[in-house]
Amino acid sequence: MKSALLKKRNKIVLITGGAGFVGTNLANHFLSRGYRIRIFDNLSRKGVDQNLQWILDRGGDQVEFLPGDVRDFHDIREAVSGVDLIYHLAAQVAVTSSLLGPVEDFEINTRGTLNVLEAIRGQVQSPPLIYTSTNKVYGGLHDLILREKTTRYFAPNSRYRSISENRQLDFHSPYGCSKGAADQYVRDYARSFGLRTIVFRMSCIYGPHQFGNEDQGWVAHFLIRASQGEPITIYGDGKQVRDILFVEDLVEACYLAYQNIDRLAGSVFNMGGGAHNTISLLELLKVIRDITGSTLKTSFANAREGDQRYYVSDTSAFTSRTGWSAKVGIGQGINKLYAWIVKNRAAQSEPSLVRAAA
Ligand SMILES: NC(=O)c1ccc[n+]([C@@H]2O[C@H](COP(=O)([O-])OP(=O)(O)OC[C@H]3O[C@@H](n4cnc5c(N)ncnc54)[C@H](O)[C@@H]3O)[C@@H](O)[C@H]2O)c1
Repeated sequence: MKSALLKKRNKIVLITGGAGFVGTNLANHFLSRGYRIRIFDNLSRKGVDQNLQWILDRGGDQVEFLPGDVRDFHDIREAVSGVDLIYHLAAQVAVTSSLLGPVEDFEINTRGTLNVLEAIRGQVQSPPLIYTSTNKVYGGLHDLILREKTTRYFAPNSRYRSISENRQLDFHSPYGCSKGAADQYVRDYARSFGLRTIVFRMSCIYGPHQFGNEDQGWVAHFLIRASQGEPITIYGDGKQVRDILFVEDLVEACYLAYQNIDRLAGSVFNMGGGAHNTISLLELLKVIRDITGSTLKTSFANAREGDQRYYVSDTSAFTSRTGWSAKVGIGQGINKLYAWIVKNRAAQSEPSLVRAAA
């Protein structure tokens, strides 16, 4: 029993982009299970140095930080060396930034992922890889027949109500292309080279440690603005619908993917809150007003490139293979995120001991 526990404790999980929102939550989960964590990150996302400090404080000598960039093959080869499992999360994450700099977006998301795959392929024992792709690989979904209510779009025909992995790929926006190409490489390295890989095509994830901004992470962004009394711009009519997934549920799915890696290798799964956790932008504003008691200042601007009017994940494939389901409802999840934002803001007024990136 003792030796089995020691063996498990010694396993090393590499998380690229591990200082980011999802990465921090994932690191925390694996730490709680007795794993060692290697975080690889260039800390380019504003705010994530705070996450890094939090996870270093929490994990002590069980956490190692390796500063580096996925675009640099030597950096990533060093990071991959000796690990038992890899979550590849490091990415340029915003559609808006990809439109401003498509080449940089490609270099980070596609080339960076290929670097990770090649580094794994070069190992004597290739560790499994779980990759976080996006619902943007399905494009604008313009063929969905939608109707409007006062606060949201809805799909009257059950055929369009949720999107499965069988949906045709239709990369839209440079971000959709770079993530989509990486998604296909990850899938193909399972076929062509026998690597044990899984792809999650994720909808909107939200929760603590998310430094949402206008470009990415809209649930956190709205809550942060509300907590600061700042105005919120709604791009489009605000009736866009998403299935949002609380990060703890995603982390559980990530863990199950690893536990079942030999059965699931080579698979792609859509991952989100599903039909029970849908919300529109306008509806989120109402929830925020109810939670904070504040009157929000909002304005409207044109819809953004590549923005789907309606996206709800069909997660039944992953559920049927692993038994996973989303447990945290929208009200509970948003309350938890808001509590973290308020607490984090209070902590930020204290002197910071944040460790600088090398
Ligand atoms: N959060 C969501 O709703 C969502 C939805 C779909 C897909 N995803 C994907 O999930 C992953 C994690 O997203 P997140 O929300 O945690 O984002 P995040 O921005 O919080 O985390 C990404 C991390 O990657 C790091 N990074 C960026 N470029 C890098 C580089 N060149 N080299 C090394 N590190 C780099 C950043 O500093 C950051 O810490 C991303 O791949 C993203 O595309 C997220």
